[in-house]
Amino acid sequence: MCQNHGVAYIKPGVVEVQSIEYPKLALGDRKCEHGVILQIVSTNICGSDQHMVRGRTTAPAGLVLGHEITGLVIEAGRDVEFIKVGDLVSVPFNIACGRCRNCKAGQTGICLNVNPSRPGAAYGYVDMGGWVGGQAEYVLVPYADFNLLKFPDKDQAMAKIRDLTLLSDIFPTGYHGAVTAGVGPGSIVYVAGAGPVGLACAASCHLLGAAVVIVGDMIPERLEQAKSFGCEIVDLRKDTPLADQIAAIVGVPEVDCAVDCVGFEARGHGSDAGVERPATVLNAIMSVTRAGGALGIPGLYVTGDPGASDAAAKEGSLSIRIGLGWAKSHSFYTGQCPVMKYHRQLMNAILYDKIQIAKAVNVEVISLDKAPKGYQDFDKGAAKKFVIDPHGMIPN
Ligand SMILES: NC(=O)c1ccc[n+]([C@@H]2O[C@H](COP(=O)([O-])OP(=O)(O)OC[C@H]3O[C@@H](n4cnc5c(N)ncnc54)[C@H](O)[C@@H]3O)[C@@H](O)[C@H]2O)c1
Ligand SMILES: [Zn+2]
Ligand SMILES: [Zn+2]
Repeated sequence: MCQNHGVAYIKPGVVEVQSIEYPKLALGDRKCEHGVILQIVSTNICGSDQHMVRGRTTAPAGLVLGHEITGLVIEAGRDVEFIKVGDLVSVPFNIACGRCRNCKAGQTGICLNVNPSRPGAAYGYVDMGGWVGGQAEYVLVPYADFNLLKFPDKDQAMAKIRDLTLLSDIFPTGYHGAVTAGVGPGSIVYVAGAGPVGLACAASCHLLGAAVVIVGDMIPERLEQAKSFGCEIVDLRKDTPLADQIAAIVGVPEVDCAVDCVGFEARGHGSDAGVERPATVLNAIMSVTRAGGALGIPGLYVTGDPGASDAAAKEGSLSIRIGLGWAKSHSFYTGQCPVMKYHRQLMNAILYDKIQIAKAVNVEVISLDKAPKGYQDFDKGAAKKFVIDPHGMIPN
């Protein structure tokens, strides 16, 4: 029981499954009697992990990865009142205290009490408070009563675990991107990026009633995946400009709203598709979104990027054409998705069959041993969302 194994970042391009400490109800000297220990049922690999694993952040060697966690409560601290041992729960990737002004306002992605160095924390992430990651067998979840979402029926939940596992991050994140971009019935939307977040966003746009969802990427398999559930697609390797490709689909070279599901490792368009151009997506969504539209930006931008191609980008300064966005009165919504704002409604959308989110992002379940291979395949652009099953609990 007191053994634990987890996926650790070793150096750029390398992760390893290691023996790690069994979690305590504490983070260093900080007591966490408000926390629980989870036996992890599923834990997903994310594009956000890839930024670290590609050496594009200041993540230290040995950092245990994993912020997309679903698990079974096996121990509860003295101060946990409502969550019980035996509950099957989804963990929002944001760690939040439930007590600070931001948490009280529902802004759980920028909690003020869980990370001494800046607002906001997450499991297994650089600069995010030092909380141990959950691509492991067991993990500590602090402030359990506030953070956790309990599934109403365990058997029903296990039958839909491939979908429910996405509630810890990418489903709410994609949905948040759509909501903040103002997607609603009849919207025409451009979603940049057909990775798991982009696909989850596109499926969320459909859930919100969008009329046309256009997904752009440069990986053909990922674009095919978007097509498989009714999206229109644009291949950004083509020389035809994005606006013209959009016009070929909807008759005009603009959309009502757009979502950046790519972030700072964005590549250029056309002949630049093989080259990193970190501001490409931000500039592209400003140029194709109608005046007065909103831009959802869940794609991640960093304050420090050792792998950036120029000195400004190394500090997170990008060449954004803000004058264009200003002239068009665009609204911009950035930052971590406050998962808790959405996870209960989205859980019900899954449980009552209003969405097939696992199918949309093409979930593939793998064992903990296979995590390093999962990272490699995901890095190569596999049109899959890898879900680690550390205890072999997920039914076929
Ligand atoms: N805000 C949040 O709370 C939150 C949560 C989860 C993930 N994220 C971020 O969302 C982003 C996407 O995550 P993911 O798991 O889907 O990652 P991913 O790396 O699998 O997907 C990114 C996709 O963008 C494509 N791409 C590159 N340049 C492009 C361009 N110019 N236009 C269109 N597509 C382009 C890539 O080919 C790739 O398919 C990452 O930056 C991740 O860190 C943010
Ligand atoms: Zn994630
Ligand atoms: Zn807080």
